[in-house]
Amino acid sequence: MQVKAQIHLEGVSHSYLTADGRLPVLKDFSLSVQKGGFTAVVGPSGCGKSTLTRLIAGLIRPDKGEIYLAGEKVTSPRPTVGMAFQNPVMLEWRSVLKNVTLPLEIVAPRKPWQKRKERARELLRMVSLVDFEDKRPSELSGGMRQRVSLCRALVHNPEVLVLDEPFGALDAFTREELWQVMRSLRKEEAFTCVLITHDLRESVFLSDEVVVLSDRPAEIQHVAKVPFGENRKLSDLYTGESTELLAGLRNQIEVAQGNAKEPQ
Ligand SMILES: Nc1ncnc2c1ncn2[C@@H]1O[C@H](COP(=O)(O)OP(=O)(O)O)[C@@H](O)[C@H]1O
Ligand SMILES: [Mg+2]
Repeated sequence: MQVKAQIHLEGVSHSYLTADGRLPVLKDFSLSVQKGGFTAVVGPSGCGKSTLTRLIAGLIRPDKGEIYLAGEKVTSPRPTVGMAFQNPVMLEWRSVLKNVTLPLEIVAPRKPWQKRKERARELLRMVSLVDFEDKRPSELSGGMRQRVSLCRALVHNPEVLVLDEPFGALDAFTREELWQVMRSLRKEEAFTCVLITHDLRESVFLSDEVVVLSDRPAEIQHVAKVPFGENRKLSDLYTGESTELLAGLRNQIEVAQGNAKEPQ
């Protein structure tokens, strides 16, 4: 099969074996993200969003269907993927800089230390943390730790970035700061991104399109194109156009939760 999209899932089904039998989480699920694209995925809690990220990263295999990254079938974890989560695990005995360079030790062990350091510093500069490279993780605020986590996810120049609610634990203003950081990273770095979030404004500010998942077993219930361009501002989230888009997405979430009917 010829696959052009950077991330492509075709008819993917996945279930977990639990004490009560099989729990179907994704059923005949298909999704495509073009190269350089940014897709946000929202949906009810427990519908299968994190499962989707693990499938894309090759950490788990689907029961059925295929997953392709850059046209190649995923059968195991790939070095071309970077990941960040809500609670970044940092190695406390390492400095910020050495936490960022960590993936290179696995993915590019032959890369000279000087080069690894330069690459990590380049990213730390982009997220305004270059003065903190010698600190230990516990000396950082939650927002700073998440910045470090983004740098670590990008240090090996992944083609695909998978973000599972990375800003979910941050306060509202820190979260907005991180959104701006994320937008500037997207300008500098060439990645294709899937972002899982439960924050609709975040989904709209960061992505090109927002995919709403149904309740479990998750399927794509709705897709909304984001009308804002590359140079969007936080204030764009407060325009009439945004309010309408957000209200539509909010309603879709209600539908997914079984609390509302599909709008006519
Ligand atoms: N390893 C696992 N074993 C059994 N059930 C799991 C496992 N991981 C997740 N689940 C279940 O699968 C469903 C989907 O989980 P998840 O993908 O984490 O949802 P979300 O991220 O959308 O909240 C949930 O009901 C969860 O309890
Ligand atoms: Mg989850």
